[in-house]
Amino acid sequence: MTVNESRHFLSLLDFSPEELGSVVDRGIELKRLHHEGVLYEPLKNRTLAMIFQLSSTRTRVAFEAGMQQLGGHAIFLSPDDTQLGRGEPIEDTARVLSGMVDVVMIRTTKHADIEAFAAASSVPVINAMSSRFHPCQLLADVQTFVERRGEIAGREVAFIGDGYNMCNSYINAARQFGFNLRIASPEGFQPDPQLVASSNNVQLVDSPAEAARDADLVVTDVWSSMGHEQEQARRREAFSGYQVDAAMLDLANDDALLMHCLPAHRGQEVSETIMDDPRSAIWQEAGNRLHSQKALLEFLLLTASV
Ligand code: CP
Repeated sequence: MTVNESRHFLSLLDFSPEELGSVVDRGIELKRLHHEGVLYEPLKNRTLAMIFQLSSTRTRVAFEAGMQQLGGHAIFLSPDDTQLGRGEPIEDTARVLSGMVDVVMIRTTKHADIEAFAAASSVPVINAMSSRFHPCQLLADVQTFVERRGEIAGREVAFIGDGYNMCNSYINAARQFGFNLRIASPEGFQPDPQLVASSNNVQLVDSPAEAARDADLVVTDVWSSMGHEQEQARRREAFSGYQVDAAMLDLANDDALLMHCLPAHRGQEVSETIMDDPRSAIWQEAGNRLHSQKALLEFLLLTASV
């Protein structure tokens, strides 16, 4: 397969809505098989390289455990232990890894680095979170909603908080999965207007209450993502009033769900107790990272490569 032919997953827009739906459904199926103790190892002798330039708990463990459960192997690569940390060009690393492994995932602050890596790679590249998008998280979020409430198409979703990579990914998800998205972000922290304009079912609203009212799903994220730690004091002030608590969830529909990609800061974007509210699907959402990422690996290595 040539460089140009390999499929990548840098954002949700790299897959068609039908492909995304099939990956979500497959995640649900792989979860059932896993819970039934069925051995399913289609990726024997396949290797995933995992480049983490930022910290991770869920993404790393889900990919590493997922690859192992599928019969393959994963290699953790940090900049401190590789030549990437000493300035080897990312394109050179992509060419070399393409000859040694079957799939690569990258987490980095610069989305352009992932695009450069993918352009030089002859094996599939997965965005494991960048400054722009976190598409793997959306697979797990949609899987969780479908498991709990059925189809997400046509539903009302509220995103409350920073217009950053998770918000951007929800904008793409609204377009690809066909739900309506209302976004409440403080002035100065709103998502990219061009991205908002790219989807006709996304609306910026003036307050968290307006977003949450009659929603089927309420989503929030940290006020200071990785790379924004220096701005914490300024952000805490800007985001005051954007905390999701029981009163805010009460504005949503009776059977609304709450999601957060984690890690969370109780007392900031979420109240001390809301993550353990019966409406919270947060722990199921985190667990589904495993199953949805297994479905993604299977799709890239088996379905999309034939
Ligand atoms: N939500 C998420 O990506 O978690 P980690 O940063 O722990 O991987």
